[in-house]
Amino acid sequence: MSRTVIRGGLVITAAEEMHADVLVEGEQVVALAATGSDAAGAWTADRLIDATGLYVIPGGVDAHTHMQLPFGGTEASDTFETGTRAAAFGGTTTIVDFAVQSVGSSLRAGLDAWHEKAAGVCAVDYGFHMIMADVNESSLKEMDLLVGEGVTSFKLFMAYPGVFYSDDGKILRAMQHGAANGGLVMMHAENGIAIDVLVAQALAAGHTDPRYHGEVRRELLEAEATHRAIKLAQVAGSPLYVVHVSAASAVAELAKARDEGLPVFGETCPQYLYLSTDNLAEPGFEGAKYVCSTPLRPREHQAALWRGLRTDDLQVVSTDHCPFCFAGQKELGRGDFSKIPNGLPGVENRMDLLHQAVLDGHLTRRRWIEIACAAPARMFGLYPRKGTVAPGADADLVVYDPAAEQTVSAATHHMNVDYSAYEGRRLTGRARTVLSRGTVVVDDGVYLGRPGHGRYQQRTTCQYL
Ligand code: URP
Ligand code: ZN
Ligand code: ZN
Repeated sequence: MSRTVIRGGLVITAAEEMHADVLVEGEQVVALAATGSDAAGAWTADRLIDATGLYVIPGGVDAHTHMQLPFGGTEASDTFETGTRAAAFGGTTTIVDFAVQSVGSSLRAGLDAWHEKAAGVCAVDYGFHMIMADVNESSLKEMDLLVGEGVTSFKLFMAYPGVFYSDDGKILRAMQHGAANGGLVMMHAENGIAIDVLVAQALAAGHTDPRYHGEVRRELLEAEATHRAIKLAQVAGSPLYVVHVSAASAVAELAKARDEGLPVFGETCPQYLYLSTDNLAEPGFEGAKYVCSTPLRPREHQAALWRGLRTDDLQVVSTDHCPFCFAGQKELGRGDFSKIPNGLPGVENRMDLLHQAVLDGHLTRRRWIEIACAAPARMFGLYPRKGTVAPGADADLVVYDPAAEQTVSAATHHMNVDYSAYEGRRLTGRARTVLSRGTVVVDDGVYLGRPGHGRYQQRTTCQYL
């Protein structure tokens, strides 16, 4: 079994920071010892990685991606191969992607299709959530089977009528089932029925530009849906995880529920922390690059999101990585904002954007690791195999240079998409060496991994309760 020692770095986990050497045997971390100690000095290794002056952090866990998602008449432009390679460059070593049940079809068929897309091509490890688009007797029974197979979380939609939408009765039934089988319901909380009325009215009034996407998807309709989802979960006696929270008033709903002691959790994404309706209003058709749902909000909302992350009213930052090229894909919505495929790229940028937040004073270093690595791993049943640096954990490790300067650009990123939502943004901090289960997959900007290294991860039920 090969032995790797990572020497001299500052090891940062959600719980602590320590100057320690890390010993990796095969695919796992087997020991940590204080740098300079006799114990660490006695270790022999096949490979020595010098981390002096650098951080040693757990590989990022991005619990919300959509590789190759069919959406709006097209398909998300990253394959599992390109998307997971980009993730590795950005210091993310596990993704949890969303398999999709189509209406009229089974969960099994959807899950099999996603296994087929991902098998043998991923650069880093991956798991699946299941999108339930058709809640019925049969799909509810299938939920139990999937939980047994390590697919322990189910996304339901209060938005997108006619596509993924479930009414309150269906949502309640899925939540009741989740309460019984341990499956965690993840909610896209926007009132899609009301939004569709506003979309039709906007288009009839000739309001076709991308910025109207943000205007019709009103903050109140995110807050209302978040409130309703919380109440439905309370009735069902189930926990709830609200995805891609963007509105201050939705954070307030989560905070209120948590203050009441309810097992309610929230995720936000870098785009809501760093981008705003100003981007949606960029001249020409440029705003289409920033069309996603929930939508970007006026920048005043960002303070509430940062605060929610600090106060633990929001627990996780995922990307909702769902890239569509500007040319030929976002352009499908020229002249009709409702036809712009929803989604933004970001799987490669998340760890660095959040490290920048440490430098900017929004987060501590440990909270950075908590929201990007440990909490998503615990939320989705991957901990402590993923999300921490500890004996017994997978050696998914990032030697992170906190002083490296970079300028984010589509010209240099590795995601298969022709623009960057963060084009020109200067960031300090970058993954220098990335290990996935003990294998170096990225070193100094060079990809050393291979398609198929990444393995499917069966997950346990939520460990956050
Ligand atoms: O705009 C988004 N978020 N696209 C992906 C689908 C979803 O709702 O997460
Ligand atoms: Zn969603
Ligand atoms: Zn999503």
